[in-house]
Parts: sequence; C-alpha cells; structure tokens
Amino acid sequence: MRVLVVGSGAREHAICWRLKASPVVTEVLCAPGNPGIAAVATCLPVGVTAVDELVALARQRDVQLTVVGPEAALAAGLVDAFEREQLPIVGPSQVAAQLESSKSFAKEVMVEAEVPTARYEVFTTRAALEEYCSARGAPLVLKADGLASGKGVFVIQDAREFPAALDALFGPLKAERVVAEDFLEGIEVSCIFASNGLDVIPLAPAHDYKRLFDKDEGPNTGGMGSVCPTERISAQDLEWIQEHCARPIIETMRARGTPFKGFLYAGLMVSQTLPRKEGIKVLEYNTRLGDPECQSILVRLVSDPVELFRWMSGGSTKRPDLSWTSRVSTCVVVASDGYPEAPAKGDRISGLELAHLVPDTVIFHAGTTLDAAGALVTTGGRTLSVVGVGESSAEARANAYKAVDLIQLRGRRVRRDIGI
Ligand code: AMP
Ligand code: GLY
Repeated sequence: MRVLVVGSGAREHAICWRLKASPVVTEVLCAPGNPGIAAVATCLPVGVTAVDELVALARQRDVQLTVVGPEAALAAGLVDAFEREQLPIVGPSQVAAQLESSKSFAKEVMVEAEVPTARYEVFTTRAALEEYCSARGAPLVLKADGLASGKGVFVIQDAREFPAALDALFGPLKAERVVAEDFLEGIEVSCIFASNGLDVIPLAPAHDYKRLFDKDEGPNTGGMGSVCPTERISAQDLEWIQEHCARPIIETMRARGTPFKGFLYAGLMVSQTLPRKEGIKVLEYNTRLGDPECQSILVRLVSDPVELFRWMSGGSTKRPDLSWTSRVSTCVVVASDGYPEAPAKGDRISGLELAHLVPDTVIFHAGTTLDAAGALVTTGGRTLSVVGVGESSAEARANAYKAVDLIQLRGRRVRRDIGI
C-alpha cells in the first residue's frame, strides 16, 4: 500500500517513520516533508494547503491512504476535497475541524454535548468585553476565536493586565470574536482519541510541556517536550474522559450531520482537589495529533498503524485493538535560538550522526532544511524532537538527553526537566 502524509514537522516525521515499519506499506510519500523525513519517505514539494495539487498528487501516485498532520490543511478543506474524489483520508472535514479553528464553535458544541467546560461568553466588540472584564475582574481567560498557534489566549491573573490583552486581541490579532471564560485551576493533561465518526479509541495518554523554561516558567510555546504514558491521569480518569469529553462530541457532531472523523485531542484541566465529576474540564479541542505528544505516543505503538488509520478513514469497519509497549518514552524538543519570539534561521545543526547512534532513541526533524552547500540548518522554531525510550521514566529521560547532548546548535533552547 502507498501512503501519503501531509505536513513537515516532527509529528509528521513520527507518522512517516511508524508507517514505514508497517508490513503492508510499500512506499511512504510526504508533502512537503523535510530532510529528516526524506530518510523514510519520498518528499514531494507541495504545501499543506495546496488542496488541488495534493488531490492530483494522490491520484497520479495511486495513493491508497492519506494522513493529515497540521490543522492548517484541515481548515483549508483538504479532507473534504479528498473525500469528494473518494480518496481515503484520515482527518476531519473543514466544518468538523472548527472544533479547533473556532473557540466559540467548540464551546457551542461542548454545551450542546453537555461536556464539562468553563463557563463562557462570546464578545464581538471591545466595549462589551471591557465592560464584562471590569464586572468580572481577574482571574479570567480571554481567547481570540480563530487559529492563532497558541498566541491568542490570555490568562489574566491581575485586572491591570486587561488593557494590554484587549489591545492585542483587537489590534494585531484582529479578533472578530473573543471568548471570555472562567479561570480553571489544576494540572493540564491531553487525551487523544481516534474516531471513525461513530466510535472512539483512546491513544496512550501523554502530556506536553508548554512553557519555554524549566519548572514551567517563561512564555508559552508549541511544546518543549512530552512524556507517554503520563502519570497525571489514571486509567479510570481516561475512561471517564472518553465517556464525558470525547464520545458526546462524536455523537453531537454526527447528530448535527457533520460527523467528526480523525484525531480528537482534548486539552483538559484536572483539579488536584475536586472529585472527578467537578474537577475535570475541557479547555480546548484540537482536531489532530498533538506535537510533540505524537512523537512520544507513536514510538510506543506496537499495533500496525495502518489498521487504525483505515478504520478512522472509514475504509474498514474492524475496530482495531491498539497495543502499546510497556516501555515509556520521553520526547525532548531542541528549538532554535530566539524561539518562540524570534527564532533564528540558517543556523548550522551538527552532531546528529553521533546522536543517532545512542541506543533506544529516535530523532525526528521539524524546522530543518539543507543550505546551498548541503549542510543541515534551522528554518526557525522547533528544530528536532529527540525521543528516548526505557523501562522507567528515568531511563527514557537519560537516553533522550544523551542524544540531545551530542547535538550542537548555536543558542539552542532545550528544557532540562522533561519527564521529571
Ligand atoms: P487553549 O489554546 O484554549 O488550550 O489555551 C492555551 C493555554 O491557556 C492552555 O494550555 C492553558 O494553559 C491556558 N488556559 C486556557 N483556558 C484556561 C482556563 N479556562 N483556565 C486556566 N487556564 C487556561
Ligand atoms: N502540543 C500541543 C499541540 O499540539 O497543540
């Protein structure tokens, strides 16, 4: 079977790497891919939102299954275009992907599905929001409605921060709608579920590390690392989350006539003090695999991913039984100098040959490219994901950092406390 993966990050590298090991896959194609992905897949220079070109590519190359990584491709309607052409694809339609691309749509569906979430209101003018903020005071959370790569959320702890947040929301972020919601206390967990539009299957639970610096300090990022499985939630919690935070969404989307197929990623706040029923609430949904959660999850998947993807695309009715290795994984992100504010481009990355030799590690590429001389350099942002596996989290972490420490990159940003 020939498969196509859409995207160019470490998440897509992990998907390609795992598909390459499937006994039924003969060739992995990736659009557009990156130099690391080129080691396991044929990379084709087509962008993730070039919908018509991707359809043509899938036709020409006789692709039997396509897996979409990034939200931008989903929001561009890639899945709808493939399905119109009867090309099997894993991912939600443009309408269903609004669960991620529109915070107000997600809230509306959550309320309809009776999913536990923070109380909220939607505002379309600065004046109305200002009035609400002064009446409610801090703490309060303000979220721009559209896709903003994590930059559209303001967690206000002190009322003096309101004016700057409002300036950003109605200024550079050009928010047409803002969701204002109650602040929730607790620890964050992400649970990812696979769905074929009818049923859900949980993936092994993971969590990411969102802040730039150790001890969860500094600015928010796309994620500086991840671990799988996470000890933050129990098997009972996961089951509860599946039945209260995932299945009702799948059922509601189906009842609306816009079924959700693909990965439903529930970002949750879990209270340390309240019982499960009042203490677990959904912060957001993503409609794809998380990055860097995917990297630490997929290295633990023992089952053939093709069985899962075929079920998710509607190409098979056999519900796969996913099995996972008992070993644990730790993913450490190596980001370029200046990330996330002003990531440096064109910096040389070296030491990878030695890092690749460290046992029980896998290195996935994200923002890397080859310069004119053929040297590996950064393209800005998160550069590499280094995943270590081991019998214990200490072993997995030690393996990951052993490889990380062999990689040289000027001014690189790496957290040292992933998995602690
Ligand atoms: P979101 O994109 O909605 O997940 O928000 C980004 C981050 O803001 C989350 O990962 C949380 O750390 C924080 N956040 C979002 N909503 C809330 C909330 N209601 N209470 C506390 N923190 C929140
Ligand atoms: N790691 C969070 C995300 O993928 O959105």
